[in-house]
Amino acid sequence: MRLRLALLTAAIPVAALLIYATGAAGAGSKADGEAKAAVCAACHGPKGISVNPLWPSLAGQQEAYLAKQIKEFRDGVRVEATMQPFVVNLTDQDAEDLAAYYASLSPCP
Ligand code: HEC
Repeated sequence: MRLRLALLTAAIPVAALLIYATGAAGAGSKADGEAKAAVCAACHGPKGISVNPLWPSLAGQQEAYLAKQIKEFRDGVRVEATMQPFVVNLTDQDAEDLAAYYASLSPCP
């Protein structure tokens, strides 16, 4: 019983460290993302709020989710003909910077 407790106590900081490390690995730069988002604003809006019902608003969405979607459009895992030309040449860093920028914006009221 005491051993089990000791193992559990040891596991918590290890798990916390893993969560922190995986989160930090995907961290993008908001400032770089803002500069790279100029081309996206045409559809997703200058502040990430879209005015077209078929173009999603990105403002305030989860950063990890946004980065995953951008990479999936780029890699053709998620297919959308209007989106792909704008993301096809992005690097992982670009995707993470764009995600950090859009996640930092205030969502739709
Ligand atoms: C020509 C218009 C257009 C441009 C420019 C554009 N997008 Fe999109 N984007 C779309 C459309 C349309 C969708 C919805 C696709 C679907 O229905 O699956 C979308 C979806 C997305 C999504 C997924 C949102 C979600 O909730 O799942 C992300 C993230 C995204 N775009 C990021 C970007 C980024 C970053 C750029 C610039 C590099 C960009 N888009 C440029 C039209 C555009």
